[in-house]
Amino acid sequence: MTKEDFLLFQEFLHEKAGMFFAENKQYLVENRLVKRMGELGIKSYRDYFYHVKYDTSLKEFNTLMDLVTTNETSFFRNEPQLISFADEVLPKLIAEKRENRATRSLKVWSAGCSTGEEPYTLAMLISEKVASLAGWNTEIIASDISEEVLGKARKGEYSGLTLRNVSPDILRRYYDQDGDNYRVKASVKSMVRFCHMNLNDPRQLSTQSGFDIIFCRNVMIYFSDEVKKELVRGFYNALRPGGYFYIGHAETLHGISKAFKLAYFKNALVYHKEVADASKAKPTLVSSAAGRSTVGAGTAGAAGGTGRALDLLSKIKQAQAKK
Ligand SMILES: C[S@@+](CC[C@H](N)C(=O)[O-])C[C@H]1O[C@@H](n2cnc3c(N)ncnc32)[C@H](O)[C@@H]1O
Repeated sequence: MTKEDFLLFQEFLHEKAGMFFAENKQYLVENRLVKRMGELGIKSYRDYFYHVKYDTSLKEFNTLMDLVTTNETSFFRNEPQLISFADEVLPKLIAEKRENRATRSLKVWSAGCSTGEEPYTLAMLISEKVASLAGWNTEIIASDISEEVLGKARKGEYSGLTLRNVSPDILRRYYDQDGDNYRVKASVKSMVRFCHMNLNDPRQLSTQSGFDIIFCRNVMIYFSDEVKKELVRGFYNALRPGGYFYIGHAETLHGISKAFKLAYFKNALVYHKEVADASKAKPTLVSSAAGRSTVGAGTAGAAGGTGRALDLLSKIKQAQAKK
């Protein structure tokens, strides 16, 4: 791959998918494309570039997305954020809706859901609250740009490391075991709707609205600041006033958006879209004590370290529980 070839891909991937590959990532782009070029019998990177660019069916673009995206994920990833979701944010939203006699519905978005572990984890956590949610309409939308990962997500079959943080009790209640494979139970699957969506497409983004909670964890790390700003504006608009926004615990909105307020929960800092009348649903500042994870390391750098320490702590606790 020549430098010029790389720059063509760099600009194309940024413009179309928001991903920014710095020049030291040239080898990565090369490695990921070479097998596909072999399959197509295409000999040069430049020819492959034009093959993708002028394929109006977008088939090859979708294949390229399968190749260049990083899809690492796992069930119950970053426990402190999930505890804050299940034990703090969710009960608070439910109580507020009950108090305001609002519609008994809960709408959650897992944006950049990869192979489905994140939305299924959220579905399991919501299911744990099912008694208090009787008669409620819950909807989890899970989107990704890669059709390949969405295929795996819809299948809902997992094995190995991705299950490492799932407790035996949750495994037993929410999965059907088949040898070394664990299939997510139909009751959990039915709570999640998977869809293909490019987060760098403002038109697609603008069709989303009314979410109570949005998760977009470990997705924007691959985007340029310019793309992040546009995307975070889109998420802000897609959230209903009073809603919450989770990003990866090592990510930050510092320098990206000032629209959100930070809500300090015991287990995590979560971005919050305030209601216009601040007296109505001001986020409760539950605790500013140590022992919280952070959703924005830049906004609370020290807390980022605490988040990692908590991770470690929960792993130690799990290991102890298994003994
Ligand atoms: C590292 S995974 C994160 C999965 C999950 N959110 C988690 O934290 O475990 C990042 C996902 O973002 C998706 N992604 C990257 N760029 C995207 C885009 N422009 N639109 C939608 N999804 C995108 C990738 O396909 C990948 O599955």
